[in-house]
Amino acid sequence: MEFQTVSQVPEYDGKVIKLRGWVYRHRASKTIAFVVLRDVTGTVQCTVKGDLLPKADELRIESAIELEGKVHKDERAPGGYEITVTGLDVVHLAERFPITKDQSTQWLREQRHLWLRSQKMTAILKVRSAVFGAIHDYFRGKGYYEFHSPMFTPCMAEGGSTLFTVDYYGKPIFLAQTWQLYAEAAIFGLEKIYTIAPSFRSEKSRTSRHLTEYWHAEVETAWQGFDALQEQGEELVAFICQAVAKKCAKELEELEQDPKKIAKIKAPFPRITYDEAIKILKKDGMSIAPGKDLRTLEEEKLMEHYELPLIVTRYPKAVKAFYMREDPEDPSKVLAYDMLVPRVGEIIGASERETSIDELERKLREEGEDTSTYEWYLDTRKYGSVQHSGFGLGVERVIQWLCGLDSIQDAIGFPRTPDRTTP
Ligand code: 4AD
Ligand code: MG
Repeated sequence: MEFQTVSQVPEYDGKVIKLRGWVYRHRASKTIAFVVLRDVTGTVQCTVKGDLLPKADELRIESAIELEGKVHKDERAPGGYEITVTGLDVVHLAERFPITKDQSTQWLREQRHLWLRSQKMTAILKVRSAVFGAIHDYFRGKGYYEFHSPMFTPCMAEGGSTLFTVDYYGKPIFLAQTWQLYAEAAIFGLEKIYTIAPSFRSEKSRTSRHLTEYWHAEVETAWQGFDALQEQGEELVAFICQAVAKKCAKELEELEQDPKKIAKIKAPFPRITYDEAIKILKKDGMSIAPGKDLRTLEEEKLMEHYELPLIVTRYPKAVKAFYMREDPEDPSKVLAYDMLVPRVGEIIGASERETSIDELERKLREEGEDTSTYEWYLDTRKYGSVQHSGFGLGVERVIQWLCGLDSIQDAIGFPRTPDRTTP
């Protein structure tokens, strides 16, 4: 007889079931032991009596066990079913598990390799898997090819201040901040491409939404302008919400999020310009120096006015990346948008790309870059240059938002931040 899963228990009412997993909770008296077994699908209460009692007695939390028993309905048991155990094998008797109730977030992060087994982390990681699956499904469904860029790169794209430099055979090289520059070369063959890959940022500030290594879903599309780019961002985010609400309703509820509310997140999203955002913030009593980027604080304040994700368009050129196309209606702005969500802030950074080589070179010089390092990139504007655009979505930020997490660090198995490189 093969093993069933805890989720199958109701189908086995009145019948014998075989399960394997770990001891989630454990309580024994002289005549009866209650063992709550955990597997990937959930937990179930099992009762042990008679000859098996000594074996159940010595169990400790997180011991690996295999058991056989009869399923019956029991209103008092969590989940409504209980198993009367008729066979019990201890696969591995655990040492005393170091994680108990009421431990600090900091300590749980240090014990992340063990904390991954918690119901909270398991629920988040299932949502995470669904988010990755949805991104692949969305782009592949639209005929996009998956394209990969190098992680070692001589170029910066998102400003020099967040670059990680590593020693590459005695010479410095950077870890990729983005896939984008290479993607802009690849669209001339593949036209519609996407990726999900790690990006690296040497963030100086310690916030609840910055990692130094995060997973970045990026897309680049030939022949696509700024309007279609906004629709694409909305569509992708709505698609992820639908998929997660459908596949992970149970996990979202465990995380105290309402799957029905998430299922209702549909395009179009509200759109405002940067100038309009500044006006709203001014009314809220926040003063922003003219032409400055929105900081976490301001994004959060702005999002108090919105329930759906918000698209903020046409940022000042001076605060945005060198590759963004100048707004033909206002040369002080760029054809870029950020998508913001409540509590988390920016989840997407998007833009139509500049095609003028002079303009690109000028902006690179302004940033103190040696343009000869970017010759290969500038070549993409020499041989059949076309309008193109794309965006990057921070996958952990989306997970943080959907799961209602205080910190982005819980949106990934093993977070990396300025202060954390272990376990
Ligand atoms: O806005 P960013 O810097 O844009 C780019 O990198 C573009 N090259 C993307 C593109 O057009 N292909 O980053 C994109 C997104 C942000 O909106 C944010 O969600 C996420 O990446 N992000 C981070 N997530 C976690 N930790 C960090 N330190 C992040 N920095 C950016
Ligand atoms: Mg950005």
